[in-house]
Amino acid sequence: MDIHNEKECCTAMPRIGEKAPAFKAVTTQGEIKFPEQYEGSWVILFSHPADFTPVCTSEFMTFASLEGEFAKLNCKLVGLSVDGLYSHIAWLRTIKEKIDYKGMKNIEVKFPLIEDITMEVAKMYGMIQPGESNTKAVRAVFVIDPKGIIRTVIYYPLSLGRNFDELLRVVMALQTADAFSVATPADWRPGDDVIVPTAGSCGVAKERMDGKQADITCHDWFFCTKKIPKEKVFAAIQKK
Ligand code: BEZ
Repeated sequence: MDIHNEKECCTAMPRIGEKAPAFKAVTTQGEIKFPEQYEGSWVILFSHPADFTPVCTSEFMTFASLEGEFAKLNCKLVGLSVDGLYSHIAWLRTIKEKIDYKGMKNIEVKFPLIEDITMEVAKMYGMIQPGESNTKAVRAVFVIDPKGIIRTVIYYPLSLGRNFDELLRVVMALQTADAFSVATPADWRPGDDVIVPTAGSCGVAKERMDGKQADITCHDWFFCTKKIPKEKVFAAIQKK
């Protein structure tokens, strides 16, 4: 991808199923090689529009408060904005020393925050969306699996803070789908029924429809579900 090409700069958008584009960057936790050094972990790469802004501050405090929940899922966090390193450091210090918000205070952001003044990474990941802003990244979320493959992409506009229950749910649902070879229905949460793949033959479909596969319930031939207890889901997806 040539991010110096004007057209590719802002239209390139890494897609689900593709390898996460590689880059080296300076962060508040030192230099990182992405996604290389995250091999073996899930990772959420996310962007925010600007340091010292209110929605971003509420998001960073929430991400930092939930870092342990993501860690239980073997999922690391990496933030990015097109601000410089000293701005990042000053903002994160202000958050820790001064901001008391919704019961969150003295919050230390320990995950890396990438400085991207040149917008090189932001452009590579389609985070600059000129209809929204030419100079700030939108709120992008890339969920990347332990092999460095992009598994979910979510973009939010500048004014809309992310829903962190949803981000945790996305990671849990992807991991559950991988662990049990199932899909997850609308609003799925651990403990809810999951969707089993469509039967490969008419015989199996008929057995399912006739209720002969005890753990499977079919709503029609193409729509069958089964229970996976919450404990079994957590045993499969949580880091030991
Ligand atoms: C915010 O984080 O509050 C924000 C940042 C950029 C534009 C609008 C809101």
